[in-house]
Amino acid sequence: MAFKPANNIQDLQYFGEFGGVNPSISDSSTYTFLSAKTMFDTFEGNADGCYLYSRHSSPSNLYLGEALAAMEGTETANVSASGMGAITPVILQLCGSNDHIVSSRTIYGGTYAFLKNFVPRFNIETSFVDITNLKMVEAAITQNTKVLYCESVSNPLLEVADIKGLSEIAKKHHLKLVVDNTFSPLSISPAILGADVVIHSLTKFINGSSDTVGGVVCSTQEFINDLRNVNCGASMLLGSTMDSLRASSVLKNLRTLHIRMQQHSKNGLYLAKRFETDGLKTVYPGLKSHPSHNLFKSMMNEKYGYGGMLTIDVGTLEKANELMELMQNKNLGYLAVSLGFYKTLFSAPGSSTSSEIPEDEQHAMGLSDGLIRFSIGLDDDIERTYLIMKQCMITVGVLEPTHLITD
Ligand SMILES: Cc1ncc(COP(=O)(O)O)c(C=O)c1O
Repeated sequence: MAFKPANNIQDLQYFGEFGGVNPSISDSSTYTFLSAKTMFDTFEGNADGCYLYSRHSSPSNLYLGEALAAMEGTETANVSASGMGAITPVILQLCGSNDHIVSSRTIYGGTYAFLKNFVPRFNIETSFVDITNLKMVEAAITQNTKVLYCESVSNPLLEVADIKGLSEIAKKHHLKLVVDNTFSPLSISPAILGADVVIHSLTKFINGSSDTVGGVVCSTQEFINDLRNVNCGASMLLGSTMDSLRASSVLKNLRTLHIRMQQHSKNGLYLAKRFETDGLKTVYPGLKSHPSHNLFKSMMNEKYGYGGMLTIDVGTLEKANELMELMQNKNLGYLAVSLGFYKTLFSAPGSSTSSEIPEDEQHAMGLSDGLIRFSIGLDDDIERTYLIMKQCMITVGVLEPTHLITD
């Protein structure tokens, strides 16, 4: 039977302490015990339903975690204060000195910087590969490899990972496949396709209102218990804990994610098709011209579409900046990093979110200076948006004026 992530979220029935329709917010950092023995058992991890200290877990964080686990089809999940606060403990939990990671080379700049510059301090090395080439992925595996790391749809180049294929490789070599699904919530369900660990930056589509940072790790009960272990759990010990108030607000936003993703995807597909027809170099997984269009199609939960992220290449950084400033002046969106907001956001990743990646490597992976990454908003009248965008493109010389006449 087809996996229905939005049904799973809808079917969660949480009552507040006084019968509220939203669960009560747990406004405490620490919790009392009626018996000293129960406190001891809780420390040992043997007292289900008891809370100890909110860095370990709190009712509000567990509610949100369980909802995200339901969305991803995993046993459970652990929320964190940011997406990086989810990624970094996962890597450090799975890898120690002399271990090796095979990672996609097109990933979020912060993750890249962590793998490239930070974990070598602990003697953990990473090989960055073209994740769309399964032969190269497998060839990069050594006897020290512990983790295969990728994003379902990569930031910012929108490369699509073959999660089933990667999972087969991971199983064959006894590796953990860790997939960051930030760009494609609901559309792609990596755990159902074989990923061992699914991560999100909740900061983006899942929260959807750009008012907080947050993250989650979705996986087996065993792995989440390991992360939370008071003696050696990376989440517990590194301490990137989400606040209860935030967990409750993210949970409320999660309840509308299915509607928002459909609108983001509808608008994304509309603009991508129009831009491509206009002759702009456009990358969007929903376009037939995308090299992994069929792969995305084969993995997707169709209803939620190809997502709200697209890129165009306008040639130079100067042109990109000129266009983005004009689009902001015309109130089409904001010149800002991040994604998943209700208004459109645009930025030039080469000089912003991927600036951690050295220029020569950016060029090798096809990240050009004139690339603009769009996170398409929830605009009700996307044709109106398109026409104003097109006028901006004509004004800055990215499109020829003759194109306007046909509209
Ligand atoms: C794909 C991806 N993963 C992880 C992160 C990091 O998340 P956060 O900023 O919430 O720490 C980002 C942030 O841009 C991202 O785009």
